[in-house]
Amino acid sequence: MRYLITSALPYANGPLHIGHIAGAYLPADIFNRYLRLRGHETLFLCGSDEHGVAITLRAWQEKRTPQSIIDEYHPLLENSLRAIGIQMDYYGRTSDPLHHQVAQHFFLRLLEKGLLEEREVIQFWDPQAHTFLPDRYIVGTCPHCGYEEAYGDQCEKCGALLSPTELNNPRSRLSGAEPEKRPSRQYYFRLDLLQPQLEAYVQSREWKPNVRPVIESWLRAGLAPRAITRDLDWGVPLPLSNMQGKVLYVWFEAPLGYISIAQRWAMQTQDPQKWEIYWKNPETRIVHFIGKDNIVFHTLIFPAILLGVEEGYTLPYAVPANEFLNLEGRKISTSRQWSIDIHRYVAEAPERIDELRYVLTALMPQSQDRDFTWEEYVGKINNELIATLTNLIHRILTFLWRMGPTHSVSPHPSLIQWRREAAQEVGQRIESYDFSGALNTILSLAQKANKSLTESAPWNQESQKAREIVAGYGDLLAALGTLLEPFLPLKVAPTLRKTLDIPLFSWAKLESPLPLIDTLHLREAPTPLVTRVSPQEVERWRKALLPSPAPSSLGTFISIEDFEKIRLKVVTILNAETVPKANKLLKLTIQAEDGIHTVVSGVAQFYTPDMLIGKQAIWVANLSPRTIKGIQSEGMLLFSEGENGTLVRVAPEKPVPPGSIVR
Ligand code: MF3
Ligand code: ZN
Repeated sequence: MRYLITSALPYANGPLHIGHIAGAYLPADIFNRYLRLRGHETLFLCGSDEHGVAITLRAWQEKRTPQSIIDEYHPLLENSLRAIGIQMDYYGRTSDPLHHQVAQHFFLRLLEKGLLEEREVIQFWDPQAHTFLPDRYIVGTCPHCGYEEAYGDQCEKCGALLSPTELNNPRSRLSGAEPEKRPSRQYYFRLDLLQPQLEAYVQSREWKPNVRPVIESWLRAGLAPRAITRDLDWGVPLPLSNMQGKVLYVWFEAPLGYISIAQRWAMQTQDPQKWEIYWKNPETRIVHFIGKDNIVFHTLIFPAILLGVEEGYTLPYAVPANEFLNLEGRKISTSRQWSIDIHRYVAEAPERIDELRYVLTALMPQSQDRDFTWEEYVGKINNELIATLTNLIHRILTFLWRMGPTHSVSPHPSLIQWRREAAQEVGQRIESYDFSGALNTILSLAQKANKSLTESAPWNQESQKAREIVAGYGDLLAALGTLLEPFLPLKVAPTLRKTLDIPLFSWAKLESPLPLIDTLHLREAPTPLVTRVSPQEVERWRKALLPSPAPSSLGTFISIEDFEKIRLKVVTILNAETVPKANKLLKLTIQAEDGIHTVVSGVAQFYTPDMLIGKQAIWVANLSPRTIKGIQSEGMLLFSEGENGTLVRVAPEKPVPPGSIVR
């Protein structure tokens, strides 16, 4: 079978975050890697979506050109994807002149086929910015729920689809001015004429349970003609001389990027026509991986364009959309700094990419929104990936290594059977877009193996027998070197294969009754494939990756239990003295209810000893003791940041008995 696999073309106006990856890029990559191991021919394409309102809006706000924005983000996006092992065959961009040609051709062809209709419409004009305003550029009060920041195309509060004329009190997002109404000519795509063909298409395909209802509700409502042109100067210009200053609507041309990028890819190979075996051959399966907000564009509008031009294009075989991934209970938003951006994760934790892939697969929002938390991140890595999977591998390898580098493998028949069943099940689950389920199958296999290894208790046997039992698990380890490849291809799977000196097997081989290997040869002493994530590590990442939430937002919440872990007490400072060779430190002797303690504080630049002696302060009593300049410091006194980088002592409003609890 031949497959064309695509992931949604990311907008080149911001970085990719974990939600994008779990939604549309990681599933495509797992799917692609698996299909190749199965022996299918695949082409995996992606690229930057470089037009659209979001980019022009941002350019206006930052007083830059759209070109400079896309030139900044296009490489960032590609590098981020490659860094986490998204193995695309080609990464293109929609500013490519070839893409413009393709999109213009499709437009003209639809015009020729009588599927476009010119209409005069009333549009909004910004009298200060001297430009027509696309729907998204207008904000106003939602007529349904009264939300004052609703966009001209949709209210983000109540979800209602709107047109700008429905908004009360409309304002331009560019200048803030009240827009004027002016007539303008636009082209409308007659989706209504294609509805019967689209219905037949929808019936002929299988859709994921979270996708089908979305399509059906659109069809039930009846497809209406839709404007596919805009008054803008950034985008694919209309190929008509009497239509200056108009471009194709981004959602009309961006999906055509899947075609133009295939053409660009083919031009890089020896065979520029090769793209046609992917796009014009009904035998090829075209699979688009996207997020749920893209469903209607990929399942109805894009197929309508392909049908409408009547040029023998193959319609999408499947559109396995995912839902959204939230972060610590809130919607991910790069602009609100509530995000884990991929390029930053890669910079902070270059050694932990497979771990991120593991967690994002386990938490993949396949049928409903899911939540990423740092707690889950640690839990999935330490208690699943390591505890169940890589510890098993390590246990077996260390046992064998102690007895020598080479062992003959004769696996117990039930081990082979488990391996075959697991390979089949992983394959079936991937082919039905259940990626977290596929990962679970591998975990269950490891669990069964752990249990049987423990039960056969080789450590109670004499050494030759023990060695035989343990080496029997070599077949399973060899299988894991391939089973894990679609999921953990950067470190875990390749390191395992390297340690065992084994190749990638074909998936068919994993499903066959024949043993995969007859000897196990260890090249070097095994080292753990994954190291545990420490609480400090997560704390560091939490801080580094979620920097200073904007003042309006609340930051990371802690529970009351978390707060109660901190023992805060009022103390009286009995004595203070400078610390030799440390001009920032003071050594303070404090009185609490349980006696006298010593604290070293870095406040000598702001306080002389006599300014503190006799005063009260707030003490963090249960902070782990530390030795500072040879002095054992217990806990810490609280100081507030003051003006110009100074520190100011925090104390109760009036004296209280030493040791009083602060809560
Ligand atoms: N840029 C769009 C988004 O991020 C996706 C475009 S997919 C394509 O939501 F089909 F239009 F290419
Ligand atoms: Zn509303």
